[in-house]
Amino acid sequence: MNCRHNKELEYFVTEAKKVTDKGKVASYIPALAELSEDDLSAAVYFTDGTCISAGDVEKAFTLQSISKVLSLALVLIDHGPEKVFHYVGQEPTGDPFNSIIKLETVNPGKPLNPMINAGALVVTSMIKGETNADKIGRLLDFIKKLANNRSITVCGKVAESEFETSMVNRAMCYYMKEHGIFQAEVEDVMDVYTKQCAIEMNSLDLAKIGSVFALNGKHPETGEQIIPKDIARICKTFMVTCGMYNASGEFAIKIGIPAKSGVSGGIMGLSPYRFGIGIFGPSLDEKGNSIAGIRLLELLSANYSLSIF
Ligand code: DON
Repeated sequence: MNCRHNKELEYFVTEAKKVTDKGKVASYIPALAELSEDDLSAAVYFTDGTCISAGDVEKAFTLQSISKVLSLALVLIDHGPEKVFHYVGQEPTGDPFNSIIKLETVNPGKPLNPMINAGALVVTSMIKGETNADKIGRLLDFIKKLANNRSITVCGKVAESEFETSMVNRAMCYYMKEHGIFQAEVEDVMDVYTKQCAIEMNSLDLAKIGSVFALNGKHPETGEQIIPKDIARICKTFMVTCGMYNASGEFAIKIGIPAKSGVSGGIMGLSPYRFGIGIFGPSLDEKGNSIAGIRLLELLSANYSLSIF
């Protein structure tokens, strides 16, 4: 992709980088512990097809929780909102992304929203396909279309590393299965989910996907309406209310754009009708969001008046 290095963006990236040592890379998925703490890169893909970047924007990283908003879009296309929201709610939790507590205390078995792990596992169980390979293949094809990049793949090492260790996610699956939220085998859901989280791309691809949401589901390059407008709207609303987990309220006040983070350090954000932004900064704050990524968005939002509120 033709994306030009930009001095102004580089200035903000350099500023934001100063906070990387206040965070830590995720280590509960062993393969993620190998990421380097002081990385920070960003790409901005404007809806007119121009693109600017700063830092090593070709570096690939896994989507982790950013994939949740993309699997949600696919499943909403597959089944429609009424059916999807029968199985997963629409409210923020105020709890960490992997918390199990409200699964028992509120509406037993039904996760509060699709951006927390429990909710995303339900969404993954609803991806259409005969086999696990069909399901992950369909999601990957959808994501390739969103990024307009056929070379996006699943990182086998990260998928395997999470599959071997993800016991709390399994526990939530069993709890939900007990309550009839899904019928699928837990190991099958875990297989698709860990591969979904391990879909790998760089900040340029991520910025481009953000720009599709900025245009309400229409691809700025191909002109194709990939996500129906109503479904893009639902996804963006979840990004605002739950996209940064239990930091979403503060993020909405300080930055004020739809955004979704992942524990590998990625953030996908967007400014409606203007641009999509892809950030990679693996050092995380205590809530699991990229610490320098958030700082960068704070600087950009203040300087370019990005808040939608
Ligand atoms: O299920 C998990 O724990 C990871 N695959 C994804 C979590 C994640 O990215 C949360 N992000 N901040």
